[in-house]
Amino acid sequence: MAKKIVTDLNVEGKTVLVRVDFNVPMKDSVITDDNRIVQALPTIKHLLGNNAKVVLFSHLGRVKTEEDKAGKSLNPVAKKLEEYLGKKVKFVPYTRGVELETAIKALKNGEVLMFENTRFEDIDGKKESKNDPELGKYWASLGDMFVNDAFGTAHRSHASNVGIAANIAEVAAGFLLEKEIKFIGGAVDIPERPFVAILGGAKVGDKIGVIKNLLDKADKILIGGGMSYTFFKSLGLEVGTSICELDKLDLATELLEAGKGKLVLVDDIKVTKEFSNDAEIRIAAFDDIQPDEMGLDIGPKTLAKFSEILKDAKTVVWNGPMGVFEFPHFAGGTIGICEALASLDDATTIIGGGDSAAAVIQNGFADKMTHISTGGGASLEYLEGKALPGVTCIDEL
Ligand code: 3PG
Repeated sequence: MAKKIVTDLNVEGKTVLVRVDFNVPMKDSVITDDNRIVQALPTIKHLLGNNAKVVLFSHLGRVKTEEDKAGKSLNPVAKKLEEYLGKKVKFVPYTRGVELETAIKALKNGEVLMFENTRFEDIDGKKESKNDPELGKYWASLGDMFVNDAFGTAHRSHASNVGIAANIAEVAAGFLLEKEIKFIGGAVDIPERPFVAILGGAKVGDKIGVIKNLLDKADKILIGGGMSYTFFKSLGLEVGTSICELDKLDLATELLEAGKGKLVLVDDIKVTKEFSNDAEIRIAAFDDIQPDEMGLDIGPKTLAKFSEILKDAKTVVWNGPMGVFEFPHFAGGTIGICEALASLDDATTIIGGGDSAAAVIQNGFADKMTHISTGGGASLEYLEGKALPGVTCIDEL
C-alpha cells in the first residue's frame, strides 16, 4: 500500500515534528561526512518553503551514561545545517522541558529549530531506545504532525519514531525515506532483470538474511570480501590466516547448496603474509592460499569476471567492500567494482550504506550511482526483506 508523504500534508502554519538521522561521523566536534545532512535538505526546505514551523530532532551515537554525552551534542550539526539552509537554526540544548516548549511555541512560520540528541534520554532508563510510552507521547504533544525522514534509524523501534507516530494525528514520510523505499524496495520487489547483487564485507554472519532473501530474487549474487574465506573453508580449502568464521561453516555449505548457479565466488585473491598496506603481494588462485597467507582483496581475474557479469545487469545492489579498501594496495577490487557500476549506462545501481557507500563517495563515484543509501543497518534489514518499524509507522494513503 502507498504511504503518505510530506507533500500529502497541509503544513501551512503547522508545527511539524521531523525525525532526521543526523547520526553523522564526527572528530573533535567536526563533522567528517555530512551526507546525511545533505540528503535531508529537500524535506526541510519543502517544509520551510510551505510555511511550516519545523522542529528537527535526531540521535547521535549511543549514550548510556552522563560521561557518554561528551562530544555527542547536536549543536555542531545545527551549525552545519544553518550553512546549508542559509538561515538560522535555533538549537535547544534539551530533550524536554519548559525551555524547549517555549522555544517551539515561539517559532514563526518558515522557522526551524533543532533540539538535543534524543539518546540523552537513554541515560535514565533507556527511554528513547526502549520506546518509553510517556516519552513518545510527550514529544508528540510538541507538534501537530510528524514527518519521518530518518531512514538510517528506520530499523529501530524508538520513542522518536514509532513512539511519536502512535500519538499524533498525521504521520508522513520525508523525501529521503520515500527515495530509500522506492530504490531499495523497488530493486528487491520488482527488479528489472538481470538483477545482480554484490555482497562483500568481513562476515557471512552479518549477511545471512540478505543472502537468503536475495537467493529468491536476484539472478546472480557475487560474493567478495572477507566472507569469501568462510565459503572456501566450508569447501575444505586452505584459507591460511584469512578472516574466517569457523562457527558459520555449516551455514556456508547450506548457502552454497541453495545458491547453486546463482552464487558466484572469487577465482583469485591478493594474498600477503601480514596485515599491512606495504606487505608483499602475491596473486593466488582461490585454491592455492598457503597456510601463512591471508587474502586482503579480490584478484584481477575475479574483477574481470564480476565486471563481465555486471555488463548486462539492469538492476544492481551492492553491499560490502571487496577487500581491505582502507589500504590503498588492497582497494583495487572495491574501486574496480565502483568503475564497473559507473560504466553501466542503462542500469539502476543501488549502494547499500556503510562501507560500500563510503568507498563510492571517497573515490568520487557518487554521482555515477542511481542511489546511495543513508542507512547501514536499516538498508541491510530492508534487503533482508524485513518490515522496518520506522516505515510501518507511517500512515497509509
Ligand atoms: C546508523 O548509523 O546506522 C543509524 O543512525 C542507527 O544508529 P544505531 O545503530 O546506533 O541505532
